[in-house]
Amino acid sequence: MSLSRRIRLCPSILNANRDDLSHEILRVAPESDLLHLDVMDNIFVPNLTFSLNESRSIIESSPIPVDAHLMIINPDDDAYQYAKAGAKSVTFHLEASENPIRTISAIKDHGARASIAVKPGTPFERLEPYLEHLDMVLVMTVEPGFGGQSFMSEMMPKVSEARAHIDAMGKDIWLQVDGGISVETIMVAAKAGADAFVAGSAVYKAQSPADMLRELKKLAVSASGLE
Ligand code: DX5
Ligand code: ZN
Repeated sequence: MSLSRRIRLCPSILNANRDDLSHEILRVAPESDLLHLDVMDNIFVPNLTFSLNESRSIIESSPIPVDAHLMIINPDDDAYQYAKAGAKSVTFHLEASENPIRTISAIKDHGARASIAVKPGTPFERLEPYLEHLDMVLVMTVEPGFGGQSFMSEMMPKVSEARAHIDAMGKDIWLQVDGGISVETIMVAAKAGADAFVAGSAVYKAQSPADMLRELKKLAVSASGLE
């Protein structure tokens, strides 16, 4: 296990108030490690969110580093743009990529951490060949496309499998889960080996998003034994 492993919280602004995004970001900033930006193209998933230009302006103005989650077709052509725009981390979907190695390199060449996401139906073994090149792995715990869905606990064996491979590699690869993370589910995911947690509705539906993030972090820390 890498010594620098720690718990990271990544609030998703998918269901925050779009009319006042800068305020919505400020509400979570003090308790966040990364700001999770869900980019959807209405083709890879049946939902449309931020364009590249909108993403750029969020990345440029965010007081916390941005974790861009690209749910788009052709990430091999476009993923580097998010790195170039200044995202700290860029995640693309394995299911949408024809040349993951080239896309990982393009993201890194533009200064961001490179990450691959897998949908619930995609087994870990399809991702394994790319693991050594990655800075983060995202195991989806819902079908990508929408916030507010129920956490799929049946993804926990995939998280544990990813954790075992990452630990065996001895590299500082973050293991993120995304979808349905709340006070009820975060401990299960942390015990399975996740160390980066996306939370959208749990955070923005709370009366105090910052208090909710503190609570989520406390639970993840106690379940994982990490800091
Ligand atoms: C879903 C997105 C998630 C979403 C999570 O496709 O990738 O990041 O915002 O929302 P919750 O936490 O509400 O499941
Ligand atoms: Zn996401």
